[in-house]
Amino acid sequence: MKLITIIGARPQFIKAAAVSREIAKHKEINEIIIHTGQHFDANMSEIFFTQMQIPKPDYNLAINSLSHGAMTGRMMEEIEKVLLLEKPDWVLVYGDTNSTIAGSLAAKKLHIKVAHVEAGLRSFNMNMPEEVNRILTDRISDILFCPTQTAVDNLKKEGYENIESKIVNCGDVMLDAALFYAKMSQKPQVELPEKFILSTVHRAENTDDPKRLIAIFEALAEIAKDTPIVLPLHPRTRKIINNLKLKSGSNGLTIIEPVGYLEMVYLLKKCEMVMTDSGGLQKEAFFFAKPCLTMRDETEWVELVQNGFNKIVGADKEKIISSYGEMKQMDIDFNVELYGHGNASEKIIEHLKRL
Ligand code: UD1
Ligand code: UDP
Repeated sequence: MKLITIIGARPQFIKAAAVSREIAKHKEINEIIIHTGQHFDANMSEIFFTQMQIPKPDYNLAINSLSHGAMTGRMMEEIEKVLLLEKPDWVLVYGDTNSTIAGSLAAKKLHIKVAHVEAGLRSFNMNMPEEVNRILTDRISDILFCPTQTAVDNLKKEGYENIESKIVNCGDVMLDAALFYAKMSQKPQVELPEKFILSTVHRAENTDDPKRLIAIFEALAEIAKDTPIVLPLHPRTRKIINNLKLKSGSNGLTIIEPVGYLEMVYLLKKCEMVMTDSGGLQKEAFFFAKPCLTMRDETEWVELVQNGFNKIVGADKEKIISSYGEMKQMDIDFNVELYGHGNASEKIIEHLKRL
């Protein structure tokens, strides 16, 4: 079987690391990797391939830093050329980025079967580019690998029982990655406070709205006076903060460059709490038994909120600060399985081999 994996952004490298490791055990599967180039800084891309031993991409399309239409369009054009040349049986896409929709759409138009990992997630916020990407990718995929029962239920509510595609609840490939790489964690090359909160901010709805971004950074500065915060900053946010001339560094708030996954796992293990607008990090907080404040107005990972592991705090300065105080007091038992058993990659490959 010939399978083409399409990846381009940081969270996809982490998911693909788990699945490609499983694919390598099956000699009858020939995996070809296309890196769209969406993320391109060494610490946003190459570091994951080296640290996590993801096979070197067979194609790097080097398409990035464009508007949504231009980026997606250019990716489709170049992916199509590779698909015509390689003629794969399957195209495998992850998550909800522009690389995901470009890959799935290019494949489907050529009548190549599409497998979507992380299918069925919904924020119900159509202003998010990710929501558009994931809904459209789900609709044209032949097999939908859902990480949770909530994701399966979302698809059922949208009438997928009447659509000719297969739905599988395989668990979350990010749990596979977290379990495998946890034992290899590495201390980042920065001085760390003894106790700290781990934070990331990169989501467009926060970075592209100065009011939200300023409120978030003001809240972080306030909280950092009580518990120091370590913030590996996405280049998107860095650029916007510089343009806004926003005062970001302050007492207790340590802003560092993005780190590799092994460093991130170290920070997750050591931190007291996570404050983020990242999708992946919300779950990793749970995997490493850390409470999480989500600086968004909604989440796709509703089971974390329902179980009290995660609080939605939006970009409201006062709410962020007061929720931090509340979360800090709580004693949470994380002992529940929400994302499968850490064998999602194995299940994905089993299903693909059967079809
Ligand atoms: C993308 C995804 C988002 C995901 C995030 C993961 C879309 C629509 N969004 O957002 O869902 O959560 O990746 O991190 O696909 N940049 C660099 N260096 C890099 C990467 C990006 O400087 O290595 C800059 C780009 O030039 C651009 C900005 O960051 O100016 C945004 O990059 P882009 O890939 O468009 O979106 P992300 O915000 O990274
Ligand atoms: N991550 C990382 N280094 C960083 C920030 C994040 O390795 O400096 C990892 C994080 O642990 C998670 C993934 O990147 O596994 C999440 O990616 P991101 O937050 O960029 O995207 P999202 O999940 O929101 O789409």
